[in-house]
Amino acid sequence: MTAQPAQAHRTADLPAERPVPAAGPVDASPISLTPAAGDDLDPVWRSVVTETRTRGNDIHLPISLAYAERLCDAHPDADRLLVRVAILLHDTGWGRVDESRIISEGFTGDWRKAAIRFEHEKQGCIIAREVLPGLGYAEPFVDAVCAIIDGHDTRQDAYSLEDALVRDADRLWRFDHAGIALASGWFRMDPATYTDRLQAEIIPELITAAAVEMASADLGRSRALLKTAVIR
Ligand SMILES: [Fe+2]
Ligand SMILES: [Fe+2]
Repeated sequence: MTAQPAQAHRTADLPAERPVPAAGPVDASPISLTPAAGDDLDPVWRSVVTETRTRGNDIHLPISLAYAERLCDAHPDADRLLVRVAILLHDTGWGRVDESRIISEGFTGDWRKAAIRFEHEKQGCIIAREVLPGLGYAEPFVDAVCAIIDGHDTRQDAYSLEDALVRDADRLWRFDHAGIALASGWFRMDPATYTDRLQAEIIPELITAAAVEMASADLGRSRALLKTAVIR
């Protein structure tokens, strides 16, 4: 008897309209007011503590998870657990690549196409496959998580609503002042220049209207807080 192939985990279709309109409530208040809720993912966090110690993942991942949960509120059709687990793990692969190459290759030149970008995606999938099955996550679910992690930085388009929400959550954390503080240094930019870049380059990349609304609100608050109009 041959084994039946495991059924693929169902994902929601990504509407064609851009930005994708929200179907549920949009919360654009400061992200610190709504940390990621629940403790169901605590075992996953505990499994990747080592990998969170690289490239600011212990700041980026929990903040992006909080944004991902807001995006799921705005898009109730999305598989919430898939989005949450995928955003939690998406960058853990940075913990297993050559750290000296992260800044030298990962944030300069054509950084989106740098080999180290592909490597951190591949390593992230390996980590997901190491960690999730032992915590009770079914194989089709793990496959769906890896499908999002693989290519999250290097693939041009999102292929599902869940993939799109992970991509938006991955960008949204940069608009909070904690994200600006950390990521401006990676790009060797002062905060004013970095916030200009967020406005010009990152907002147009956002897929959902909810993310655009949150990013714009955060950007206004962060610019005021950091006095970027004056300190430039
Ligand atoms: Fe990444
Ligand atoms: Fe990321």
